[in-house]
Amino acid sequence: MPQPLERLLQQQGFGTRRECRRLIREGRCAVAGAVCADPFQIIEDLPDGTELTVDGAVWPYHAKAVIALNKPAGYECSRNPKHHPGVHALLPLQFSRRALECVGRLDVETTGLLLLTDDGTLLHQLISPRKNISKRYRAQLSEPLTEAARQKLLTGVLLKNEVKPAVAKAVAPDERDAKILYLTLTEGRYHQVRRMLAAVGFHVEALCRVAIGAYGLPPDLREGQWRWLDATDLNLLMRETP
Ligand code: URA
Repeated sequence: MPQPLERLLQQQGFGTRRECRRLIREGRCAVAGAVCADPFQIIEDLPDGTELTVDGAVWPYHAKAVIALNKPAGYECSRNPKHHPGVHALLPLQFSRRALECVGRLDVETTGLLLLTDDGTLLHQLISPRKNISKRYRAQLSEPLTEAARQKLLTGVLLKNEVKPAVAKAVAPDERDAKILYLTLTEGRYHQVRRMLAAVGFHVEALCRVAIGAYGLPPDLREGQWRWLDATDLNLLMRETP
């Protein structure tokens, strides 16, 4: 949607409208390399990726932000964290100002693929139980999973205070290390992996989310790092976990 530059910068997370107006008037902003000092200049629809420059730092315009973070342990998936720093502490300030939400939370101690977005429609699609989007986890167990426990996870286990059994879509021990388990779920109940494994008598020592749909945690994305998702990545999110 065409909009005045000051509004566009505000929407991209550069501050309040007033702050953005000032940045622009002081000649500190450029759109696609061209300095613009008029806060009310109408900017036509920009393609995603267009370079906005503020104080010499380049920021790629995205109408809606969708990012992947490799979450380290020790961070809360909340904008108002209580006992640990929130994941927003790992991200540029623009994302907190844009009020990016976590797409399905991870526990404080869980690591791995965490998506954040300000696209409400996408958020709903990704967390809606009706969409059945798979999430794949790698769990480090204190001892190898037995075949009987594997079968129970696949047929369904009752979790404390719940009436509907929790069912894993796939459960596969790692070929080289029997204490490592890959588990695929289509729901996102509280502490679900840890509780399901506890229900069949196993303790999870470490947990990492390695894929959502067919989008895998990028191997070159180190813990604490993030990246933008593009249209190809978004398509993968909606596809089956391989
Ligand atoms: N299941 C858990 O137990 N913890 C998570 O963080 C995600 C799934």
